[in-house]
Amino acid sequence: MAEQPLADLLREAERVLTASGVWGPREDAAALAAHVLGLTEEALKPEYPVPAAAAERLRTLVGRRASRIPLGHLTGRARLGGIEVTVTEDVFVPRFPTELLLRWGLSAVEGAKDPVVVDLCTGSGAVALAVAHARPDATVHAVELDAAALECARRNAAERAAAGDRPVAVHQGDVTDPVLLADLDGTADLVLANPPYVPVGTELLPEWGEHHPRQAVFAGDDGLDVIRRVIACAARLLRPGGGLAIEHGDAQIDVVPGLLAATGAFAEAEGHRDQENRPRYTTTLRKAVS
Ligand SMILES: C[S@@+](CC[C@H](N)C(=O)[O-])C[C@H]1O[C@@H](n2cnc3c(N)ncnc32)[C@H](O)[C@@H]1O
Repeated sequence: MAEQPLADLLREAERVLTASGVWGPREDAAALAAHVLGLTEEALKPEYPVPAAAAERLRTLVGRRASRIPLGHLTGRARLGGIEVTVTEDVFVPRFPTELLLRWGLSAVEGAKDPVVVDLCTGSGAVALAVAHARPDATVHAVELDAAALECARRNAAERAAAGDRPVAVHQGDVTDPVLLADLDGTADLVLANPPYVPVGTELLPEWGEHHPRQAVFAGDDGLDVIRRVIACAARLLRPGGGLAIEHGDAQIDVVPGLLAATGAFAEAEGHRDQENRPRYTTTLRKAVS
């Protein structure tokens, strides 16, 4: 068969993805088709004649997605805050809920001139780079422990800088390090973090449980190992009045405020829900006294 209408291929892909339990089969089929055809999803037309080789490539990718490899790992791209970044298969794919944490962060520094912003556990660098894109006057630092993620973040940072955004400083670092970014102590206007937060042993969808690096997802028996260190690090880095937002799991919305309060460094915390109304991140401000 020389060519096939796109609509037929999309129907076939949706059937395969639905049968394998993928939760957004239509959306993922469209995203993979756009990727294969080099088009935006908006430009996909049902009658588009897809050449045989492209149809085969699409079927292969649909098969891989049906084996529950994350969409972002198949397309190699992910979007956050109006920018696109590269994600390699050994790096966490930025998620839609993090968009809200990002928006909170941007609103927290709305009135600040030349803000200093730190993104802890940056992964692909998406959050840090989205801040730099939205706030050309900001000095943005991104911190990541894992070598593969670091390489990906550096590559994305170079890509965004070449596109005209202010360069982001990407640091290899560990949030458990008590002197991490010590030069910035007491100066940061905003600290954002989407750290690993799933308790070890939790059963997850294969996209997260099998196809994401463990250090990007799991964090000790209660899932709070890294969050605790993020809080300590943020208490040190933030200036009085500086903002902190931490993404976390559903149940942790009842725990994170207590961890923040125990430091004595933060004002009353506020829990926030994501686009699906699930408890997703907590915010607070650094108090004047520690
Ligand atoms: C949930 S992923 C989030 C990545 C990115 N912030 C995002 O939203 O797409 C968490 C990231 O934290 C990194 N990480 C885990 N433990 C860390 C630590 N102790 N210090 C710094 N980064 C860490 C992981 O390698 C991973 O890239």
